[in-house]
Amino acid sequence: MPEDHFGERVAERYDTSAADMFEPAVVDPVVDFLAELAGDGAALELGIGTGRIALPLRQRGIRVHGIDLSDAMVARLRAKPGAEDIGVAIGDFATTRVEGTFSVAYLVFNTIMNLTTQDEQVACFQNAAVHLRPGGCFVIEVELPDLQRLPRGDSFRPFTVTPTRLGIDEYDVESQGLISHHYRVAGDTLEVWSIPFRYVWPSELDLMARLAGMMLRERWSGWRREPFTSESTKHVSVWEKT
Ligand SMILES: C[S@@+](CC[C@H](N)C(=O)[O-])C[C@H]1O[C@@H](n2cnc3c(N)ncnc32)[C@H](O)[C@@H]1O
Repeated sequence: MPEDHFGERVAERYDTSAADMFEPAVVDPVVDFLAELAGDGAALELGIGTGRIALPLRQRGIRVHGIDLSDAMVARLRAKPGAEDIGVAIGDFATTRVEGTFSVAYLVFNTIMNLTTQDEQVACFQNAAVHLRPGGCFVIEVELPDLQRLPRGDSFRPFTVTPTRLGIDEYDVESQGLISHHYRVAGDTLEVWSIPFRYVWPSELDLMARLAGMMLRERWSGWRREPFTSESTKHVSVWEKT
């Protein structure tokens, strides 16, 4: 089982520290996009967390199931109204199987990068495909690796710098490794934590999809179907199970 980086300390603050990601302007286009793909079928969220997307999707009338490694995150979801209609399996979304067949499986907010080896990411595509009906779709939202900003020989890129918050990404280009280091001043204390990721290229994800019997259907730079271009900093990709 992979290490749980979303324990109690992260879970208790998740909804407030990511408050901008809970805004209707952010959530609604995601839910519109996924509800359209789900149609009258069910949706499976890999890394369901505290239900940021799953709960409003359920409110749209879509049956939703989730998988997550973190008891603490899922406890936050369970405390929210509407959660009683959402089944959640605790486990690794690269390998955990749940009952049922789904029209759409989705993995948002960069969470594919939480799998820190290529083998785990490949397994995740295979696990998504196993849960989909033929013609069903797997959707990923993930940032593009920010390597154009990293001079050769450098490893560190700041992503947040404020008087009380510092965030620095540490790249290991050889292994596509990325560790996000966080420093936060909280009263008299300095909180320090680091989370490991594996960054991954769109073309590499397309190959993982093909290995799992899926083909790229759409790629956008956002949930409102903004065009994906050389300037894009993230992508929303949809692979269809053939
Ligand atoms: C950034 S949060 C996203 C939560 C939610 N999808 C959202 O958009 O707010 C990542 C979630 O994925 C879960 N997670 C990370 N790696 C996982 C794994 N290998 N298996 C299952 N869950 C995992 C974490 O516990 C956490 O709840």
